Amino acid sequence: MPLIPLRPVLDAAVANGYAQGAFNVNAVAQAEAVIQIHELFRSPAILQGADLANAFMGGAVDFAKGTLEDKKRGAKNIAAAVRRFAESSPIPVVLHLDHGKDFESCAAAIEGGYTSVMIDGSSLPFEENVELTRAVVQYAHARGVSVEGELGVLAGVEDHVFAAGSTYTNPLSAIEFFRKTGVDALAISYGTMHGANKGKDVKLRREIPTAIRECMNHAGIRGALVSHGSSTVPQYIVNEINALGGQVTNAHGISRDELKAAIGCGISKINVDTDIRLAVTRNLRELFEGRPDLKQDERIGGIWTLLDQRRDAFDPRVFLPPVMDTLMYGTGDDGTVALVTDAMRRGVREVVGTLIVEFGSVGRAPLVEQVSLEEMARRYAAGEV
Ligand code: G3H
Ligand code: 13P
Ligand code: ZN
Repeated sequence: MPLIPLRPVLDAAVANGYAQGAFNVNAVAQAEAVIQIHELFRSPAILQGADLANAFMGGAVDFAKGTLEDKKRGAKNIAAAVRRFAESSPIPVVLHLDHGKDFESCAAAIEGGYTSVMIDGSSLPFEENVELTRAVVQYAHARGVSVEGELGVLAGVEDHVFAAGSTYTNPLSAIEFFRKTGVDALAISYGTMHGANKGKDVKLRREIPTAIRECMNHAGIRGALVSHGSSTVPQYIVNEINALGGQVTNAHGISRDELKAAIGCGISKINVDTDIRLAVTRNLRELFEGRPDLKQDERIGGIWTLLDQRRDAFDPRVFLPPVMDTLMYGTGDDGTVALVTDAMRRGVREVVGTLIVEFGSVGRAPLVEQVSLEEMARRYAAGEV
């Protein structure tokens, strides 16, 4: 099927009370594996490329310093691959920009073929966030592309308790934000946090999505609430990485029970990146542990060198530059390189499969309306959504 916008996928989740996982990818092989595992579970699929991931997939090994040109190239590369996989797939697939930094990054993603974008204005004062988000909504909706905004700052675990200066999302402001911007989805701050060090036994402040959802219903606002920073950081994977020579410390995620309870309180999209990074890192370490001869391999030996140098790291982008072309285009995926991409695919399938089941999107593919970008643009223009 052709790629579709985010909106119909989230409409189905909201209407049927389940959540849709949204999974970050940094390579063609990962995108393929995310789609395959969703197919297996007959689930709709949301693939996300973060702003910096686009820079990486555009060839910027030092992705944190990636330029707009890198992001444009990366968006095109990954969108071409995802479009190809989606076209021969029976499930609906969305390609979503994660944490778009500015208007230009969002426009670059849309131009490259993304069907949904996030504009992250959460660090700006409210009115500036509204203004930036509204500009992206105008540009994106005219092209049928969905938009996710963010309000509130994902903070540390000490913020469990409400305080006047809280960085949690204020439900009243969330309603105003939906009204003023017209976003399709809103990322909220309610106790989650990006990365692998979220703190032990995090309790989410579920009152926040509950209050926002309730007010949205009263106000007739359609849209979805998004939970970022939601990796579960499986302890068995962390332990295995460390048994294989890694040094990942103080790693704790959000429990599956907390996430499931949040779904019941109105969360419809759950973002996961760290769990995939961890599983892929473990599989790469395991590959070289089982086949020490590969440490000297001409094509992939450099990956081992980086794993050995950076024992604390678990972002595969740190280790994988020796096979950059394969990550960016899917080319050269043979011989010993295929052992690496196979390790990546298996890591993706393991954690993503688990979460598809936990979040309740198994079997939901037929519930999603297959809406083209053109039809979606028409609906936005006609005020039908
Ligand atoms: O939420 C952020 C994602 O984990 C993306 O990370 O900006 O390093 O690609 P990144
Ligand atoms: P994690 O770091 O918890 O995987 O969060 C990912 C995320 O929010 C992507 O936008
Ligand atoms: Zn995020």
